[in-house]
Amino acid sequence: MATKTVKKSAAKKAPAKKTAKVAAPKYGYFDDAAKEYVLTTPATPIKWCNYVGTLNFGGIVDTTGGTLVCKGDPALNRITKYIAQMPCSDFKASTIYIRIKDGKNYKIFSPFYVPTLVKLDKWECHVGLSYMRWIAEAFGLRVQVTIFVPTGSNTLLQDIQVTNIAGGSKEVDIIPVYEFSHFEAEKQLTNADWVPQTMTLKGHWEKDGHVVLEQYAYMKRDYAVNYVTADCKVGSFDGDRRVFLGQNEMGSWANPLSLQNKELANSECDRGDNIAALMIHAGKIAAKKTFRTCTQLGQEQSLKVAAKAIKKYRDLKNVDKAFDELAKFWENYLSTIQVNTPDAAFNSMVNVHNPRQCHTTKNWSRYLSLYQLGYGTSRGIGYRDSSQDLMGVMSHMPEEALVLTKNLLSVQRPEGNAMHQYAPLALEEDNGNEANAGDSREKKGVLDENGNPAYADWYGDDHLWIVLTVANYLRETGKMELLNEEIPFYEAGKKRAQREKGTVLEHLKRSLKFSREHLGKHGLPLLGFADWNDCMNLPLGAESTFNTALYAKALLEMMGIEEALGDKEAVEMYKGWYEDVKKAFNDSAWDGKWWTRWFDKDGNGYGVSSAKYGKIYCNGQSWPVISGIAFGDRAVQGMDSLNKLLNTKYGVKSSTPGYRGFEPAVGGISTYPPGAKENGGIFLHTNPWVMIAETILGRGDKAFEYYCQINPASKNGILDIFESEPYCYPQNILGDEHKQFGMGRNAWLSGTSSWTYQAATQFIIGIRASFDGLVVDPCIPSAWAGFEATRKFRGATYQITVKNPNHVCKGVAKMVVDGQEIDSNVAPVFTKGVHKVEVTLG
Ligand code: GLC
Repeated sequence: MATKTVKKSAAKKAPAKKTAKVAAPKYGYFDDAAKEYVLTTPATPIKWCNYVGTLNFGGIVDTTGGTLVCKGDPALNRITKYIAQMPCSDFKASTIYIRIKDGKNYKIFSPFYVPTLVKLDKWECHVGLSYMRWIAEAFGLRVQVTIFVPTGSNTLLQDIQVTNIAGGSKEVDIIPVYEFSHFEAEKQLTNADWVPQTMTLKGHWEKDGHVVLEQYAYMKRDYAVNYVTADCKVGSFDGDRRVFLGQNEMGSWANPLSLQNKELANSECDRGDNIAALMIHAGKIAAKKTFRTCTQLGQEQSLKVAAKAIKKYRDLKNVDKAFDELAKFWENYLSTIQVNTPDAAFNSMVNVHNPRQCHTTKNWSRYLSLYQLGYGTSRGIGYRDSSQDLMGVMSHMPEEALVLTKNLLSVQRPEGNAMHQYAPLALEEDNGNEANAGDSREKKGVLDENGNPAYADWYGDDHLWIVLTVANYLRETGKMELLNEEIPFYEAGKKRAQREKGTVLEHLKRSLKFSREHLGKHGLPLLGFADWNDCMNLPLGAESTFNTALYAKALLEMMGIEEALGDKEAVEMYKGWYEDVKKAFNDSAWDGKWWTRWFDKDGNGYGVSSAKYGKIYCNGQSWPVISGIAFGDRAVQGMDSLNKLLNTKYGVKSSTPGYRGFEPAVGGISTYPPGAKENGGIFLHTNPWVMIAETILGRGDKAFEYYCQINPASKNGILDIFESEPYCYPQNILGDEHKQFGMGRNAWLSGTSSWTYQAATQFIIGIRASFDGLVVDPCIPSAWAGFEATRKFRGATYQITVKNPNHVCKGVAKMVVDGQEIDSNVAPVFTKGVHKVEVTLG
């Protein structure tokens, strides 16, 4: 009795156990050790996806097994027919059917759940670093499928392992299927005459029972053929969708009638809808035993050229090796910057998911996603977008970044401004017409009252971004010789060799000169067709304070470059230009409590307190701080006004209030309802600039607050509101003027990725490359007692420890490098070895 009482009271006094059950996340969870996000249900709120391979060969794999693959260019060389607008439950370009003999009949299911929609006992989709892996269980079988592209290859592998997890033995067939697209992706959707007449699929049996299905649009027969094959013998195949689905396509993807027959029909396809379905007989799988096979989808000039790769990946040892190599690539890539801070969500984003997304945006620009569908020439590699994306990978892969940087420089016009985008394959083909002027083409014919073009056919910002990109490369690598390299300017209709050339330095000079020579009434750089905000297209003569700030920032970068080159005269000249524009800005753009965003050609302000809609703009406040043209009280007041009027719990809105109906005079921005995208939405790309500006002001607590409120990982518990993938930044979140406040859209391909990564690593953590060494200048939350970081820089590894004994946000009191105190916060360039950097804030 006594004992019992004691026990009871002891139990009472014991610290309360956390017995409340934490609700399991509804859709999935982060597995940080495996660097994966693990989805536990296929019924995501909207389609989610992952990327495999690169733009050279690769594409999208969605969470229910749909694959969108292309080689070199999604618009001009697409391989699979993924129609993104189809419902989540529909077949989209690829799937696998698993068939189990059940008496005289078959049970059929897909490990992806789609398209059979047959209930599974277990389903997981592991969203990994450039791979997808599913684990599904049904009818006593466990199926594991891993999809990836081996580094540098032109092959999509699908590693399928089927294990009998029940007793007895089970007779199993595996039927992987791909559907092909015409290589010109848009034509596939718009032309049902020419396209189907040209689409061709042939089966090539090999002596040993292997088959290679060869597919091409007729004109590509001698240039680029797609193929599907497997490592093992195949019972039969189908190449004609009509035959595979059965009954003149009254059979469906959910239930292809041909799967009721022991074998497929070996249908080739001389025209029509080309598919590649293989009947792989796994045979009788005994209890606990696994059958493994690996399919290949590739493209080469011919099957003869493909033979080597086919042979290689028919050996499963090489498949394993390729998967290990992929993991090594990522390990090495991510090891460039690793942090250990008191904030776990920050660590996981900075160490894995954010640099991974930067790799994706670097590859795909805004060309191919579940939102940017990669059809036709409406998109391509965006000048503005890719210039910014490159900054997100510059520390990790500067030489690869340089290839794209040079491509961008090659579509800069001799006048100094740039083409808005280019098609990568057209550039490769040197067809004289690889670049275009983006959406400005739509207003080409519009004339003003004097019969002159009313709108610019150039963008006011494109050519300025590249100055930042090149400066980033130079600081990261120290390879100043790049500046002497000659690159052509863009002259439409001419082959590259015939075009005017200039050194990289000359390209940068012309960028700045163009802006210097295109100023408006207040002495501010002209808007052009648009600045960063694509949706504000005011007639020619309008000025943009964003372009003003970007121009000023580019001038600062140029001064840094010229200084490093030792050209004092040039430094002075650009300093003069900087002071001129800073003065013009301060003389004209202050509206009382914040900065004006645009002036139209008649001098009317936009983003001013007297406006009915769009009174204040986010970029209007952050960028003047970033570029240093706003300073003192006004810099702070602008940022405080932004906080007061634009901040929400889900992020900072790009403007407020939103336009409430279409206004032809302002155009694009007013095509959205209030709270959406550029019209008062939380356009996420602008948020890291707010973080950076706050770190410049020394307000680390605020910067971190802005960081946390958009961290997608933190949305894992509110996915019914957010809806978008929690493992990458979306482009936009609906703002508080919209009923669906908090809903994210346009995942993956957004400048948010590069800039949030820069904000986190270079400004919050504060570790950044300079011409002289590695700067450590953190601006952190005052609650942090410090953090650790590893940074690779010019061949050496810096192990950095930051202590914050006085709980300040910013200010390096002491820096010790390899045991020696130094008189700055710049750790020297070492080029090799491991070096210890100890920093004390205070
Ligand atoms: C899209 C465009 C980008 C633009 C932004 C804001 O993200 O890709 O170029 O800056 O919208 O309009």
